[in-house]
Amino acid sequence: MIYPIVAFGDPVLKTRAKDIPADLPADELKQLVDDMFATMYHANGVGLAAPQIGKGVRLFVIDSAPMVAGDEDEEDEEEEIDPSEAPVKRAFINPTIVSETGEEWGFEEGCLSIPGVRETVYRHETIVIRYEDEQRVQHEDTFSGMTARVIQHEYDHLEGVLFTDHLSSFKKQLIKGKLTRISKGDVSADYRMRFPGQGRR
Ligand code: NI
Repeated sequence: MIYPIVAFGDPVLKTRAKDIPADLPADELKQLVDDMFATMYHANGVGLAAPQIGKGVRLFVIDSAPMVAGDEDEEDEEEEIDPSEAPVKRAFINPTIVSETGEEWGFEEGCLSIPGVRETVYRHETIVIRYEDEQRVQHEDTFSGMTARVIQHEYDHLEGVLFTDHLSSFKKQLIKGKLTRISKGDVSADYRMRFPGQGRR
């Protein structure tokens, strides 16, 4: 099932998501993960967090391949890619970021919940994250570069934080009108969206 994407202004995007209980039936979890991947690919996204489909639970999916591939083109073809920077397609369940290290670097980010807005966000180069996979097995992995950035963006969603929250007050002021219009449904996206006050459709 492809879900509509919740637009900026919906309280679910500003609320800290809750852990997925250990006793959630495996088939329900698998269905949710499958639906999230389908919804993400349908919208041409590289990441999607459960609050963005209106579910306040700690789950996000990513496929950083399009971002990492684009990044790679600029480099020497012979250069070997650091394993922590390799593209990742994965579901992260009940994640906790353990550490963020390295230089902060800027990149223009967007968000499926905030169509048409792209701004530079500064994030640390490397993260260590603890999470469960779909079989509820615990992992602790290190990610760097673009894949780390995608994870940091999606992880923020579980904390009720949007990329626009990272901007300077000057930048926030500049995009305020755009954000208000998005929350009122005055925006076009090539995927289905759900706007605050509109209910499910
Ligand atoms: Ni986002």
